[in-house]
Amino acid sequence: MTMTQVIDIFNSKGFTVQEMVALIGSHTIGFSHCKEFSNRIFNFSKTTEVDPAYNQGYASGLRDLCKNYKNDPTMSAFNDVMTPGLLATDSLMAVDNRTKPFVDLYAENQKKFFEDFGHAMRKVSVMNVKVGKAGEVRHRCDSFNELDVN
Ligand code: HEM
Repeated sequence: MTMTQVIDIFNSKGFTVQEMVALIGSHTIGFSHCKEFSNRIFNFSKTTEVDPAYNQGYASGLRDLCKNYKNDPTMSAFNDVMTPGLLATDSLMAVDNRTKPFVDLYAENQKKFFEDFGHAMRKVSVMNVKVGKAGEVRHRCDSFNELDVN
């Protein structure tokens, strides 16, 4: 997606650009499967094998890590080792004029990041909440309870 598309989606859910940047700041933790960024490290375009937005040393490490990902779909990389921007829209966010000021602000001021992240996350937590029989509190966050084997 372009940054405009991403901003529009967050806006349509009632989030400002600044709140969006704070929320996506959560990509400093966790990991991503190779298939989520493989297009950036293999066959990126007709002229370049690797997305030029990547630090090239980082990209070659990712190529090595993910070389077998089609046979082993569990292969993953940490979202933020030190070199941010594993995912394409994260890279964009650091250079787009609308988002860069907030990326820089939060990189400089961790206290502000934590405050704004907490505030935006509370907004997420009450979005489209299903009540009563309309929904369920999952035992596992990644599957419906009816599919539980336990
Ligand atoms: C433009 C918006 C976003 C995009 C395109 C995006 C994309 C992704 C992708 C592709 C992954 C890897 C998933 C996998 O391989 O299993 C991921 C992981 C993650 N995302 Fe996002 N995300 C976005 C916004 C957010 C927001 C708003 C939050 C939190 C409020 C968030 C929190 C996380 C976390 C914590 C992980 C790591 C999960 C883990 O380690 O299991 N992301 N994201």
